[in-house]
This record gives sequence, C-alpha cells and structure tokens, in this order.
Amino acid sequence: MDLDAIRQLDAEDPLAEKRNEFFLPKEKIYLDGNSLGPLTLVAKRRAIEVVDKQWGNDLIASWNLHNWIDLPTNVGEKIATLIGAASGQTICCDSVSINLFKLLTCALAINNERQSILSTRDNFPTDLYIAEGVQRLLGDGRCHLELVERHELATRLEDKPAVLLLTQTDFRSGELFDIEELTSLAHANGTLVIWDLSHSAGVLPLELDKWQVDFAVGCTYKFLNGGPGAPAFLYAAQKHQDKCEQPITGWMGHKAPFNFESKYSASDGMTKFLAGTPPILSMSMLNAALASFENIDMQQLRTKSMQLTDLFLTLLKETGSSQQLQLCSPSSAELRGSQLAFSHAKGFGICQALAAKQVIADFRSPDLLRFGFSPLHLRYEDIWHCTQAIKEVLEEGMYLLPAFNKRLRVT
Ligand SMILES: Cc1ncc(COP(=O)(O)O)c(C=O)c1O
Repeated sequence: MDLDAIRQLDAEDPLAEKRNEFFLPKEKIYLDGNSLGPLTLVAKRRAIEVVDKQWGNDLIASWNLHNWIDLPTNVGEKIATLIGAASGQTICCDSVSINLFKLLTCALAINNERQSILSTRDNFPTDLYIAEGVQRLLGDGRCHLELVERHELATRLEDKPAVLLLTQTDFRSGELFDIEELTSLAHANGTLVIWDLSHSAGVLPLELDKWQVDFAVGCTYKFLNGGPGAPAFLYAAQKHQDKCEQPITGWMGHKAPFNFESKYSASDGMTKFLAGTPPILSMSMLNAALASFENIDMQQLRTKSMQLTDLFLTLLKETGSSQQLQLCSPSSAELRGSQLAFSHAKGFGICQALAAKQVIADFRSPDLLRFGFSPLHLRYEDIWHCTQAIKEVLEEGMYLLPAFNKRLRVT
C-alpha cells in the first residue's frame, strides 16, 4: 500500500480532528499510548489553572469553591459513561493495585463459604501480587490463589471459586477475553468476577452493566490519557455495594469525614471505597483529559483501532519485516485489543533503535516489542512511517549496537 493511499485513509477518517486536541512532539511517532497516554491541551491548561488559580490563589477554600471534594465521584461518573455503567457505580481513586486489594477482600467476604481466587498465570503481575498479599493476610484457609492457563478457566470454574480475577486485554499479547461469556460462566458457578480493564478502558466498547459484571478496576493513564500516575477507577455493581466492607477504612470513606468521629462508619454508595485524600492535581488533569471522549462513539473508535493494527501488519509484511518479527498477538483484529506484540531475541535493542528514529514503542521482558494504537491521536500515515523505521532498523542492524542494549530501569 503506498503513502498516497494511506493519506487518503487519514483524509476520510471521521476521528482525524481529534488529534488536534493533543500536545504531540512534532518529530515523534507515539505508539505507546497503551502505557502512558499523551498530554491533551485541555489537561495542560487545567494543570496551570489548578496550580495558579485554585491552589495558588484560592488555597484551602478550593475544596468547596472548586468542588475538589467531589472530584473522585465526578470523575468516576465520566468514566462510567465509557465502561457502560449507570450512575452511582464508578469512582476514581488510588491505584489499580490498591483498588484490587479492596475489591478482592470484599468479594471474598460476600462469597464467604468459598476460599479461592481463580486467575491466569499470565495476568498482569500486580493483580497476582495483590491476590498473593490477600492470601498471606487472611491465611490459606480463607483465601487461596489458583493460577491456571487461559484455556483451563472454564473447567476450573466448575471447582466453584469465590472470585474470578481476570484482565480483559492481555498486557503482553493484547489477546482479549470475552467478558460477557466468562462473567456468565462464572455466575453459573456462583463465582463473583473482578475485571481489570487497564488496557481496555478508552479504546474498547464496554458494557459492564449489561454484561452483569460484579466488580472492575482500571488504569486511567493509558488510553484515558490521565497523565503519569493518574488515579485508577473502581466499579462496583449497585447490587453488591451494601454488602461491601472495604478494609482500607480511611476518613474519606467515612459517612461524615468532617465530623471527626473516633469510630469508623462507612459512607453509603461508592464513596465508601475511598481511603485517604484524593490527589487533586492529578485527578484534575484526568478530569480535563476525559473531555476528548465526549460525543465519541466507542464503536467508531474500535473500528479505527482495528484498522490501524491491521494496516501495521500489512505494511510489516510488505516491507519484509514480518519474517524477523514473530507476531505474538492474535492475527484477527476482533480477538485483540489495541496493541500488537512481536517477539525477537533483540527486542529491547530494536525498541531503543526505533526510539533513536523517533518512533516510540515499548519492550516487555523477556523479548517482546509492543506497539499501542491510540485511535484518538494516531494517523494512518504514522503507521507507514513506523513500519519504514522498523525496516531500516532491521536492515541496518543498528539494534545490535551496545548503546541500544543497555537495559534501563523502566522499559
Ligand atoms: C493490566 C494492568 N493492571 C494494573 C496495572 C498497574 O496498576 P497500578 O495502578 O496499581 O500501577 C497495569 C499497568 O501497566 C496493567 O497493565
């Protein structure tokens, strides 16, 4: 496919204008929005306003004046519209890790006749580490983590675990789980589900209420473009909320934090999932960034995302690079999220050499080169430039240079 034909795809792209809402360094092609979404112009302006005017000038009055106190709820409600959740079930707070701790303990307490958490061996490490921590805290008799291969899930659900803990989009390969199907299978076995939507929110159409999901969590600094370390979200279906007694009983989750009572009394509704003071600067930027999703049809976003990944694979083949890079993602776009992963013994060096050519991807140990496709800001033309850069890096062998093979702390 030639560059003119690809430019025509951009000319016809109904989402093309969205790119103008982002601050994107001119020389860079950014294929890492699945790790850290880029800065939106509105978030940049909001950061300055919150620092200068709200914090700087209005100081502590801002908690009421600028409604800082309700940010976790208000931001949660915005995210709710992107995950198919009716009002009153989503809140923005803490990290995915901390929210998983809250939800795992709640779900084990609700399903208290049972002991095990079922998950996959390839789940994102923090999900497994937190489950391990819950097991250590509660003791093996009250909580036991069972790790299986993806294809074993259906059979292992027949053992009737208390909780099924899964990540919809595999962080390595991008392979998708069918949330609706697995949730229904879990429920048929009396098992509660917790879905990690970190690589899904903001890029896949989600229908948590319709699919009768019990609980979910997700990152906001990836496809939601909330900024580095932006707080996560937590979803709890209405029907479970009264039964949830989350264990991090901080004052922000209290019914009346400013009564300063000595005894904890959990708030009603979603604010019971709060623990401490919200990170206002970070949450304000996320709040602003979410504006780029207003009036977006998630199905349209998904269609572009699938076209971008398919185009990438087509061009990789045409430029002859596909023989050297082994595709580890499903070859059908329907079965993968908005990312592609390839294995190569020198994947790290290739990633660094690409960065030297201003193409930003990332590397996941031991040998995965990973590209993320954020349909809000990527052009089809970017995919062409990226695959040209890959061809050059592979042909020139520059990825073998020692300078490109010095491991950094964050890959
Ligand atoms: C699937 C998944 N879950 C969780 C996290 C991280 O969660 P936390 O917000 O605790 O850093 C990541 C980070 O990349 C992730 O990919």
